[in-house]
Amino acid sequence: MSNTFYITTPIYYVNDKPHIGHAYTTILADVLARFHRNLGYDTFFLTGLDEHGQKVQQAAAESNVGPQRHCDEMAPQFIELWEELHISNDDFIRTTEPRHKQVVQEFLQQVFDKGDIYQDEYKGLYSVSEERFITEKEAESGQFHDIKKLQEKNYFFKMKDYQGQLIEYIEEHETFIQPEHRKNEILGFLRQPLSDLCISRPKSRLNWGIELPFDQDYVTYVWFDALINYVTATGYGTDDSSFKKWWPANYHLIGKDILTAHAVYWPTMLLSAGLPLPKTIFAHGWWLSGESKMSKSVGNVINPLDLIEEYGVDPVRYYLMREMVLGQDANFTMDSFIKRYNSDLANDFGNLLNRISTLIHKNYDGIIPQSRELTLDEKVIKDAAGKLVSEIDGKIKNMKINEAIEDIMQFIRRINKYMEEQAPWKLVKENKDAAGRILYTAGESLRIGASLLSPVMPNRTSILLEALNTRESTEWGGLKSGSKIRDHQPLFPRIQV
Ligand code: MSP
Repeated sequence: MSNTFYITTPIYYVNDKPHIGHAYTTILADVLARFHRNLGYDTFFLTGLDEHGQKVQQAAAESNVGPQRHCDEMAPQFIELWEELHISNDDFIRTTEPRHKQVVQEFLQQVFDKGDIYQDEYKGLYSVSEERFITEKEAESGQFHDIKKLQEKNYFFKMKDYQGQLIEYIEEHETFIQPEHRKNEILGFLRQPLSDLCISRPKSRLNWGIELPFDQDYVTYVWFDALINYVTATGYGTDDSSFKKWWPANYHLIGKDILTAHAVYWPTMLLSAGLPLPKTIFAHGWWLSGESKMSKSVGNVINPLDLIEEYGVDPVRYYLMREMVLGQDANFTMDSFIKRYNSDLANDFGNLLNRISTLIHKNYDGIIPQSRELTLDEKVIKDAAGKLVSEIDGKIKNMKINEAIEDIMQFIRRINKYMEEQAPWKLVKENKDAAGRILYTAGESLRIGASLLSPVMPNRTSILLEALNTRESTEWGGLKSGSKIRDHQPLFPRIQV
């Protein structure tokens, strides 16, 4: 089995500042990257920015600056947010970088030389906001409000020549498009005849893009340019051994709205270029705000920076990962955020550390007691911890992140209950060794729970592990009897409503 793990996020348009939806995909990728690093996978995590095309050109014009300057001013907003959110990406790609332009032009030339690109006069309907030609039927659907009649000469990619091959590939590779209902959606779409893809824009209409290598009057369609970022960053065309090492990607994480581009355009482009297809394209749902779509005009857009400032990074990461069932939409409300924080983080998780450390301070001079011979109760807990570790592994690999987190929390709740039942604060008066064994068992369980949660909450779990004077690992016995616990702030102070 290959020991490499390559994961990507979409590259975000720089027409606006990042919001919670962008933060979500990036955090999800980060959690998966951290989890795989912990398992020993050689991991490559890529995110970046989509800087060409009409949307960006328009945004630049609105701010009265040139498009490159606009991109240069926007990029730090994303980079800084990722730093704030403790995103551990290995590379950050911007499509205006020379390394990317070069690869896009080589890719285009290759597909052109193969005979898969032709020029044609197109006369038809064009959606300005979607930046693409649309069919009569789409125009009638009423979802486009900015349709123009256009007649122009353009270059087309012979996407329909790959339709059959793509259908076969999807049917043969069960995990290629996930979740299952998205795969069916694409197969449904592919039951209709596929059109060829218009991959150019005449400079007379749009000049913010990468010039076609075979016709300088045109720039590349923004999606054809953007999708290629996933191979640029691995060294395609420039560093063969790096490319071979990382490609094909294990996961392209995307939102459901950009599924067609990823599951139809991109694979057919790769088939034409003779490159392997990514292993999995995973489409998640949308974050709604108070049950409706987030939009500037409605004024319900959630800004991740405000949340971080008020509640800290890890609770935000935790909430986003815990609340969304991957594949479905989820609803963001402050009410559910605060409930989740207070019940899971303050009451269950933070409180367990407090109880353990207070008792060890008070009764054992702050020295972690001996684990001693485990009794039946402790053996059951130790076994449950072992089982939890292997279950979490399976759940995360199957993208059931919310369930994995819930399982860890249930384990933590169980340890709180064990503390209640055993009441070491009473027992210590008559049998200090037995009370010590209970505190050791609870502390060790908490250590394992924290280690499992570390990809989701890297910062607070490391504070917890430091407080217990121990390190991250998921094997029983990492807590060291005889070592001194350290003072710490309350991990998750309750939010007063
Ligand atoms: N630039 C393209 C992607 C090119 S990838 C080769 C793009 N950019 S985007 O900035 O508009 O959107 C990026 C991602 O954010 C998409 O996956 C989209 O689904 C996601 N989200 C935008 N709003 C969202 C929510 N409210 N909730 C969750 N994700 C959402 O499309």
